[in-house]
Amino acid sequence: MAIEPQAFFSTLEKRVSFTAEDKSLLQSEIDWGKEIAPDMAEFFYDYLGRDQEMSTILNATEGRAHRLKETFIKWFYEMFTGMDDWGSDYADRRWNIGLVHVRIGIGPQHVVPAMATVIREAGKRAKADGKSEEIKEALGRICMIDLAFIEQAYVEVSSEAVLRETGWTEGLFRRLIATGANAM
Ligand code: HEM
Repeated sequence: MAIEPQAFFSTLEKRVSFTAEDKSLLQSEIDWGKEIAPDMAEFFYDYLGRDQEMSTILNATEGRAHRLKETFIKWFYEMFTGMDDWGSDYADRRWNIGLVHVRIGIGPQHVVPAMATVIREAGKRAKADGKSEEIKEALGRICMIDLAFIEQAYVEVSSEAVLRETGWTEGLFRRLIATGANAM
């Protein structure tokens, strides 16, 4: 069930219509992305801190919140640079971010609203800084791709773990899920 990150990126790119124009737009605003990334990180971690559950995760180990701010700034900026033109490095990095969140136990209920918050806040900032509607949309699309990576990592890792522990086939596993869903 494991995914190949670059192939997954290509699928998502088509699915959300993340176009060549979006990429050039983001790259044309690299300086702006870099400038606002620390503010976005600050906002993001205030947001996480206001939620009891997420705040506990955030402060579970020494230095975690600080590391997180640094890595978030980098993450945000990479959406503008595209790293290697949104190629295999970009996809591998996004897959890895997903795996980190699964390891820590951060599920869809945390990540989806968090990404919505990033999109909303970046949109507000774009408006305040007189940026175009198009750059907002391009940013929203790449955020959706990054979100899909984190969410998919959750599913892939859970499924892999069950298959490994039980020795079940993928077919059996899928049938059990379908049966379970029918019974709910
Ligand atoms: C918009 C969604 C999110 C993005 C883009 C994001 C981004 C990142 C990035 C880039 C990393 C570093 C990964 C690495 O070390 O390679 C990270 C780690 C982490 N994130 Fe998130 N994150 C998101 C949502 C959340 C949420 C909802 C929480 C809940 C508390 C969270 C908590 C953490 C923690 C605890 C780490 C590990 C920090 C460490 O010990 O180094 N993240 N995140």
